[in-house]
Amino acid sequence: MSTAARTLDTQELEQRVKGMYEEVARDPDGDFHFETGRALAERLGYPAADLDRIPAAAIDSFAGVGHFLDLAALEPGDAVLDLGSGSGMDSFLAALAVGPDGHVVGVDMTEEQLAKARRLADEGGIDNVEFRQGYVEDPPVDEEAFDCMISNGVINLSPDKAAVFAAVARALRPGGRLALADIVSAEQLPQGVTCDASLWAACIGGAMQRDGYREAIEGADLEIVEWRENEQYRFVSERADNAVRKYGVTSISLLARRLRGGTDGR
Ligand SMILES: C[S@@+](CC[C@H](N)C(=O)[O-])C[C@H]1O[C@@H](n2cnc3c(N)ncnc32)[C@H](O)[C@@H]1O
Repeated sequence: MSTAARTLDTQELEQRVKGMYEEVARDPDGDFHFETGRALAERLGYPAADLDRIPAAAIDSFAGVGHFLDLAALEPGDAVLDLGSGSGMDSFLAALAVGPDGHVVGVDMTEEQLAKARRLADEGGIDNVEFRQGYVEDPPVDEEAFDCMISNGVINLSPDKAAVFAAVARALRPGGRLALADIVSAEQLPQGVTCDASLWAACIGGAMQRDGYREAIEGADLEIVEWRENEQYRFVSERADNAVRKYGVTSISLLARRLRGGTDGR
């Protein structure tokens, strides 16, 4: 088939993404296009003292792309939604920050990730966090129920990013925060990359061009407050590295707020 005629098969993509992150839950030291684990987390800026306070096995399966919890500025009592919570590292850190009066919901579509996160919460007696199976495009949560939404390395994996940001705006209370790390590209990726489900599942093929990514957020009535580049993040396979260098695929962290509506429009 010619490159121009190729399209992304979203069902195949979902199976690839699930397969890859099942492996990350089961065998975090396996051979991936990306790094995992504690050394990565520390390099990205997660304080070691915070990591020491959560289950180590959640850190082993960490496959995020940046640090953003400083931007989230979680307060005791906050309700937090973690989109694509994986084995739960960010959810557990958020649970520490919001304390017993707060609550964290992690949503993920991959059974092995959920099972691991739930087991670690049980074993650690962490009872202000729960993990729900669902899609980030339509998470199983109430409207306007959250003070803050977080997400790490996930939205690039969705073939419908506008649906994800619309879901974020629905689930946040007015004025609520979205803090995330994700992968974007300097240039629009060609079909040879975007239609490669394996590169997509490795957090490269689904990277949206950075201006389009900003527009997708702002189109959902979210205002971007801060945007920063995560130069510490790198892909590890040669194939990934080629795409990264050619198209400027990089990691960013950002903070956005849901506009309030009302007379001043904020
Ligand atoms: C790169 S991993 C990151 C996991 C976690 N945030 C972390 O930092 O370790 C991506 C996660 O998003 C989940 N995921 C990908 N696409 C999803 C979708 N459309 N709906 C729900 N979960 C999704 C995967 O199952 C996987 O656990």
